[in-house]
Amino acid sequence: MERLKNKVAIVTGAADGIGLAISRSFAMEGAAVMMSDINADKCAQEAAALVADGYVAKSVLCNVGKTSDVETLVESTLSSFQRIDILVNNAAVAISAHIAEMPEEDWDELMNINLKSIYRSIKLVTPYMQQQRSGSVINISSVQASRSWDHWTAYAGAKGAIISMTNQLAGQFGEDNIRFNTISPGAILTPMNEKRIEAEGKEFLQSSIHQAAMRRMGTPQEVAMTAVFLASDEASFITGEDIRVDGGLCTLPRYT
Ligand SMILES: NC(=O)c1ccc[n+]([C@@H]2O[C@H](COP(=O)([O-])OP(=O)(O)OC[C@H]3O[C@@H](n4cnc5c(N)ncnc54)[C@H](O)[C@@H]3O)[C@@H](O)[C@H]2O)c1
Repeated sequence: MERLKNKVAIVTGAADGIGLAISRSFAMEGAAVMMSDINADKCAQEAAALVADGYVAKSVLCNVGKTSDVETLVESTLSSFQRIDILVNNAAVAISAHIAEMPEEDWDELMNINLKSIYRSIKLVTPYMQQQRSGSVINISSVQASRSWDHWTAYAGAKGAIISMTNQLAGQFGEDNIRFNTISPGAILTPMNEKRIEAEGKEFLQSSIHQAAMRRMGTPQEVAMTAVFLASDEASFITGEDIRVDGGLCTLPRYT
């Protein structure tokens, strides 16, 4: 249980869902974790719960849509833990609309939070990783980058761009021993999807279950364990990769 011993990790969107599961798993594997979220109260509670259990975690308010907040996140991590080994860009919002009806402000908001946020954090963190000559950056994409669902053009566009950026950066920073990978979850049962189940009803839940070959939704923990692997030295020669955690969603439809 010490696969991340002596490593310092930043996780965005760490108060709930996949980001919280990643933060907990990292802490349990020995990392010092800087948990950040726009929901500062819940994030602080979750970090305190880890500390109470004997793990190393701190929290900081960070809206990834604001450059000054991301600067504060990086500065707080360095002043608390003196280095940054792992960066998980997880925070995102789910805004859907028919492309012909999507207001430009919604498009801009989604791109700012889901895509430009990654530019912000990577820009600030890579110089430190270059000095250390090591680092692992994990960007959370989605199977929506490569599959079509009606009305998710902006979200899918941002997720596809994340994979392209990750590939580009993996090429550029390989010499510095900084690895860049993405994880593409399928349908995972998190507050993001609980809200959709509430809004769209049982039909959405059933289609989320049915669309995976494994006929169930995934758990945040199943995504978190893939992040642990990519963050750890077990993945020391893996860069520019996208790992789907989707219960076989992308294998469907089956042609018999
Ligand atoms: N749940 C899924 O099925 C699924 C599928 C594919 C990809 N993803 C991706 O996984 C990641 C996590 O999704 P989730 O389902 O856990 O989401 P969630 O909505 O359940 O949790 C997201 C967390 O991010 C925080 N957050 C939202 N906006 C923020 C901002 N501007 N700055 C900082 N924090 C912010 C929220 O407060 C929350 O704690 C996202 O990148 C999402 O796109 C999720």
